[in-house]
Amino acid sequence: MSISLYAPLDMHLHLRDGEMLRRVAPLSARHFAGALIMPNLIPPVSTKEDIVNYRTRIIQSIGDETFMPYMTLFFKPTYTKEFLQSVRDEITAIKLYPAGITTNSEGGVSGFDIDTLRPPLQAMSDLGIPLCIHGETGGFVMDREAEFVPIYEKLAAHFPKLKIIMEHITTKESVAALDRFDNLYATITLHHLIITLDDVAGGMLQPHLFCKPIAKRPEDRAALLKVALAAHPKVMFGSDSAPHPKESKECPGCAAGVFTAPIALQMLAELFIQNNAPLEHLQHFISANAQQIYGITPPDKEVVLLQKEFTIPQNYEGVVPMSAGEKLSWSINPAI
Ligand code: NCD
Ligand code: ZN
Repeated sequence: MSISLYAPLDMHLHLRDGEMLRRVAPLSARHFAGALIMPNLIPPVSTKEDIVNYRTRIIQSIGDETFMPYMTLFFKPTYTKEFLQSVRDEITAIKLYPAGITTNSEGGVSGFDIDTLRPPLQAMSDLGIPLCIHGETGGFVMDREAEFVPIYEKLAAHFPKLKIIMEHITTKESVAALDRFDNLYATITLHHLIITLDDVAGGMLQPHLFCKPIAKRPEDRAALLKVALAAHPKVMFGSDSAPHPKESKECPGCAAGVFTAPIALQMLAELFIQNNAPLEHLQHFISANAQQIYGITPPDKEVVLLQKEFTIPQNYEGVVPMSAGEKLSWSINPAI
């Protein structure tokens, strides 16, 4: 048996730069037709030159594969309308990080004062640039995302024409917010559909499952699964695949990020099949919804999954994937 997926898209991907970019970009490019590329480099991607040069480095690192990097800019409250107009054609979205909330987010936003944020957000709304947000407060780690929901709602109400994407949602509160505002959307990762906090820290500590936002409770996972398997039109797949070298994960002060890019499609297929969800829903979750939400037309690409056992490698040139060593029942030829 085989499954054909058309133009799979990963709408939240960390490709890094330099040597890490060279290692990981071909893995995403092999399986996906395109991805929304996160801007949290050091320093963050925040000028037109940064965008153009980073896109060039990504394209150079993927070789002959058909793969569209959809670029994002790192949000700064100081962006002017003129600046945003000048970068409009180079970007697909702008990513907002609360200051210091996750890897390389030190230059992010502190406080969510509407008057301070109004000039850039109104300009984005006028120019039709979607705003992607890492929605966590600085509160208790399990409550950070739920505490951020009122901020999402405040922004959605003040800027009703601005498309706001709640990135990598992990809670039932975020799922519920989706249907309260026309302009709120969400990405969901593979790992948050599979794990809970128990898998991270309930037994021996699992650094390769440690990420921001941290995995939550079974009822949160159930809420995420429900909308993903139903291909709710406002949710789309975003892996948040976030590679870190093995030594930065297997140490005190473990870096946050789960690396899933090379196994995401195989595991999603398995998950949808196990849950008896129609494969048409998988197609919507991994491509059609994102095309609709972002108004993008990805390059033609068909990815064929075969029902053939695949053992997840222990590492990809020193980057350990989620579920390393486990066997999957779906594979993509040639297996990587
Ligand atoms: C991401 C990273 O490493 O860049 N880490 C993570 O845990 N998800 C940043 C992010 O998306 O929060
Ligand atoms: Zn991320």
